[in-house]
Amino acid sequence: MLLKLYNWSLVGCLLIFSNLLSPANCAEKAADTYLLATGRAGETRLALIDEAYGHFSRSLLESLHSSLPENAQILSIGCGTGTIECQMAQYWPNAYIKAIDSSQAQIDISRDKAASLGLKKITFIFQDANDLIYENSFDLVYARLLLIHVQDPVSVLKRMERAAKPGALIICEEISSSSFHCEPPNEFYAKAFQLTQEIAQEKKVDYDIGVKLPGYMADLGLTLVRFSRQEPDRANLNVKKQLFLSLTEAKPKLPANFDGQSLDTLLGELEKFADQDNSRISMSDLFQVVGRKTVK
Ligand SMILES: C[S@@+](CC[C@H](N)C(=O)[O-])C[C@H]1O[C@@H](n2cnc3c(N)ncnc32)[C@H](O)[C@@H]1O
Repeated sequence: MLLKLYNWSLVGCLLIFSNLLSPANCAEKAADTYLLATGRAGETRLALIDEAYGHFSRSLLESLHSSLPENAQILSIGCGTGTIECQMAQYWPNAYIKAIDSSQAQIDISRDKAASLGLKKITFIFQDANDLIYENSFDLVYARLLLIHVQDPVSVLKRMERAAKPGALIICEEISSSSFHCEPPNEFYAKAFQLTQEIAQEKKVDYDIGVKLPGYMADLGLTLVRFSRQEPDRANLNVKKQLFLSLTEAKPKLPANFDGQSLDTLLGELEKFADQDNSRISMSDLFQVVGRKTVK
């Protein structure tokens, strides 16, 4: 029965229909390719993501501190609930931070967060990364876990490069499904992984972008400053549950006549496996790629 579920050629057609059926809602226009929950419904998972990856982001940002001017202008794209941007504002109190996201619900949470921390130099704007039109304006352009969700990541990267001042840094922190990890082998994990690959194919997004970014940056004429791969703690239960949580959130955006009961069974088994003391699973390592815009 479960095996039948994974006949994804059928699911592929259904996913296309789900796009046609979904209500047009300009306040959530990234929803076509962003399958995860936004707003309060996605807040816990993003907090857990920050628990898994945040210390890597923070140490990268701290290491770059000295290369930024005192009143740096920073652009952050796909800011989610604003966690990392509020931290930037605390590290760099003289910096001006503009953060965008294509979900109004994310922007609302981010604004509340910044207000509750009394951060005044940070602005959250509802905007799609594909519509960025800034030119030579920022000392740092940053995105974490955004490019895996857009259909044309190179075009977004190009817009990021255009937004950067000459000599400015462009930082992308992304995952690569080639580094997904599971130990010991588990049939439910394997099926869940296969499911993510099928979803990426249908949505025409690239869940393997992390390893490709240095090449994309080089093609845009950026100088590679750093390329590193950070492994989250695969024994941490919150890390182990990321795949389960992501698929659980994506579930409502899968086709209406999708066999939800079988997916529930899969998710139940995946969660049980994550709960086992001896299991080591993770969505991905974090690939940190930093490029510098050429000064002409
Ligand atoms: C996985 S979350 C990461 C959020 C945040 N960067 C972090 O690391 O916690 C991806 C975010 O990108 C946003 N997003 C997806 N597609 C987008 C697009 N085309 N333009 C702007 N934001 C987008 C989503 O709404 C979501 O908030």
